[in-house]
Amino acid sequence: MLIGREDETATLRAVLDRVRAGGSEVVVVSGEPGIGKTALLQELRSAATGVRVLATTGVEGESDIPYAHLADVFRGAHDDIAALPERQAAALASAFAFGPSVPADRFVISVAVLTLLSAVAARGPLLLVVDDLQWVDRASREALLFVAHRLQAEPVGMVLAVRPRAEVVARLDRFRRIELRGLAPADARRMVEQVRDVRGRADTEALVVGSGGNPLALLELPLARRGRTGLLRRRGTPMPLTATLETLFSDTAHELPGRTRDALLLLAVLGPVPDAVLRLALLGHGLAPEDLDEAVRAGLVVHELGRPDFRHPLVRSAVYQSSASERRRSAHLVAARALDGAAVPNAEERRAWHLVWAGASADEDLAARLESTGDAQLLAADFTSTGHLFQLSALLSDDDATRAGRLVKAAHATRLAGEIDECRSLMVQASGLASDPATVLFLQYLICRLDLWAGDRLQSRDRLLELVRTHEAAGVVLDPYMHSDVALGSVEIGDFSVADDLSAAAVERAVAGGGPVPLGIAVVRAMVRAFLGDPGATVSLEARAGELDVVDPVTTDRDEQVLLLAGVAHLAAEDVERAGTLLQRAVVTARTHGAVGMLPFRLGRLSAFEFWVGDWGMSAAHSHEALTLAGDTGWRGERLHSLLACARTEALTGAAQRCRGHLDEALALAEVERSSAYLATAYAGLASLELASQEVAAAAAAGRRVEDFSRRSGMVDNPLVWWTGDLVEALVADGQVEEAAELVRGRAEVPSARPVLRAVLARCRALVQPDRFLEHVDEAHRWHARARMPYERARTDLVLGRMLRRQRSAGAREPLARALRTFEQLGALPWAEQARSELRASGVRLAAPTRGLSELTPQELQVTLAVARGLSNKEVAGQLFLSVKTIEYHLGKAYLKLGVARRGQLAALLATQAPWVEPAAGHQGP
Ligand SMILES: Nc1ncnc2c1ncn2[C@@H]1O[C@H](COP(=O)(O)OP(=O)(O)OP(=O)(O)O)[C@@H](O)[C@H]1O
Ligand SMILES: [Mg+2]
Repeated sequence: MLIGREDETATLRAVLDRVRAGGSEVVVVSGEPGIGKTALLQELRSAATGVRVLATTGVEGESDIPYAHLADVFRGAHDDIAALPERQAAALASAFAFGPSVPADRFVISVAVLTLLSAVAARGPLLLVVDDLQWVDRASREALLFVAHRLQAEPVGMVLAVRPRAEVVARLDRFRRIELRGLAPADARRMVEQVRDVRGRADTEALVVGSGGNPLALLELPLARRGRTGLLRRRGTPMPLTATLETLFSDTAHELPGRTRDALLLLAVLGPVPDAVLRLALLGHGLAPEDLDEAVRAGLVVHELGRPDFRHPLVRSAVYQSSASERRRSAHLVAARALDGAAVPNAEERRAWHLVWAGASADEDLAARLESTGDAQLLAADFTSTGHLFQLSALLSDDDATRAGRLVKAAHATRLAGEIDECRSLMVQASGLASDPATVLFLQYLICRLDLWAGDRLQSRDRLLELVRTHEAAGVVLDPYMHSDVALGSVEIGDFSVADDLSAAAVERAVAGGGPVPLGIAVVRAMVRAFLGDPGATVSLEARAGELDVVDPVTTDRDEQVLLLAGVAHLAAEDVERAGTLLQRAVVTARTHGAVGMLPFRLGRLSAFEFWVGDWGMSAAHSHEALTLAGDTGWRGERLHSLLACARTEALTGAAQRCRGHLDEALALAEVERSSAYLATAYAGLASLELASQEVAAAAAAGRRVEDFSRRSGMVDNPLVWWTGDLVEALVADGQVEEAAELVRGRAEVPSARPVLRAVLARCRALVQPDRFLEHVDEAHRWHARARMPYERARTDLVLGRMLRRQRSAGAREPLARALRTFEQLGALPWAEQARSELRASGVRLAAPTRGLSELTPQELQVTLAVARGLSNKEVAGQLFLSVKTIEYHLGKAYLKLGVARRGQLAALLATQAPWVEPAAGHQGP
């Protein structure tokens, strides 16, 4: 029976009610050891009538066996697993070690777990209870968190208990939290009264104070009170609890016979293993299972499901921590031996861990086996556990150079898995081991390159530049990719002059080295030149389109960024269709490989393309996904880009508040990172936001900041940073016509391959030269006709319509109506409003605006558009890492908002509101 804890119990019962009513909720219970988390969870479980409970408990020291705990959760659900889509079923069967081993990345597995949970929940409400989350193996933990973030429409409650100082706690911020503290003194006293040994009031009070109300301490301290009352009586400050309790537990253990203590230590070292393995280990140590009996009598060990286990995790750590390191090492060695060839999941890997903990000297044989298992897995893209294999292999290597090489492999795999901090620390370790100067240099280079996107951009760029300069000065022949990466880093911070020099140097060095210029170098060069407005920027890439089409953008290190950067180069050159093809392929391949570490970059740029061609729903959805994934993976630098990508559509779709929030954060980040390019992009976003809400002075101020940057850096307007049209219009509206005219006159000739920029500049000329207005607008329209950029075309229509309306010309209505239609289709609410009021002023009576796509949340839109493209709910679920139930949920809400009831109606609606969406062949069903 629980003492106290009324509020906490009520909260958890409310979770049960919610789940019974078909909703989902995630709650975190945190608190120090012994505070009563497990007891509270038990209370919850016993109250869960009518709710199916799945549960697992983390085990200290076992957190490196991938998916052990998920396998535990779903041990009774093998039939449900078999009913999943084939790839997911195979992935889970393999991860849970009851089916043949197939490679699968953590993303595939996480999605499969989500599908599985929602399948199980389809039969009735479900409660998932995870105790000691801090010791749940990392792979399971990742999958559980992935699922927790995506539960929406299924009747699933998730309650996670965790110790507060665990690393994982930082990642649970988004969930409701129950913070358990010590029991109230009255409750603590009640509890003490239930413990036999305590008689006098002084003892009781000493306990209440000394325990800080910790129930475990209340229960355990008196049991070993002999001679320790002095400690207990030290009033005022709570005792250093964990240490005290551990000492208590180990004291009990120390009184046991030597053989029992040895057996206990082995049990602590092994963790949960099949009985046969435990027996083998005991025998290997000259012990027998009966040697644990004394520990059972002493209450340290209980038999759970027929096999011995510690009564409390503290006992286990106490036994382990209090053993001399020599004894610990030999226990690990025995465990390793017992696991040799054992029928336990990941036996070889577990064995390797034990060897490492045993401080075993190198075992090159095992190390090499682990490495080749890793190599094989990497090719098949199983990144997280591959990283662990390489790490183990490195630890067991017998010379530093080999070890460094394996650490680099581990780093590569963890980066692909999207664990950037881990990746960096592995590379630092490797560089500490390498002795040959070329390797040292290469590793320094890799670290700088990582930091360009995960750390301080300016500093990393400078370090990389320094590396190149000093080594070249010393006559070292460098890999031209280094120059190219300096160029790339320089683009990131907006230093186009270094970017130009170094990207040219990279090409030069590559040519000097003989053979063709590597694609990776060519794309960076093209990108830099495109930002600088060079009309021939992408000529070299066009010649190599065939090569680009066959690049593997995931598993080969050097080619990994090629598609992305080529996409950006084409985008910057306004070669939009080609950019779209490349970026789409980059995203699709990353998704199918589950290479989540690459997705944020690719989604962010794809969203720029989608914005440009008028697919704003997708653009918003993808930029938001990029933002989430940048956070999930630790690519801190990419958060900045994702924020700006989100702001791009938000500025124009009436999400002003969200937009301002994103821009404020981006401005602050760009300031901290001293990245003038991102600062300029943020100001361009701000200008677009202010102009949309007709704050022309503010728009002009923001636009001027971008213009300044462009003057200093040489960057010209491009689909990624786009401001001149907004700035000129804001200046003119603000009465600064001369400044606007000056700016337009100062613009260099723009090549005809940039039709949208030419159109916008022609429109700008119309604004500053009213006497030649129509002539310039005509020219603008001629350029618009050559390109697919609906938004800017509508802006030109609006400018034309507004001017004609002021001249009281009947011709105003046509361009205004055209502008309105396009703005509405795009969801450009503030602009549609401007067009609407111009139309009204010209005497047109307008119906209320139609309900449209702009009312949908990014996720509803993403789902709606995917469905409209003809994908089944199941297919959409797979692509967006959501459950089918959640897809149905979003779709339902979208139907309501759009006022449609069937897929067919949805398609018809989209045909008018989002004509860019390719309709599906033959819509069927609701
Ligand atoms: N409110 C309570 N009333 C009665 N007994 C309690 C209460 N809370 C905890 N206990 C008892 O105190 C002991 C420690 O609690 P519990 O095991 O739940 O702690 P915990 O927070 O799970 O600790 P750990 O982090 O070490 O797992 C258990 O024996 C439990 O039954
Ligand atoms: Mg517990």
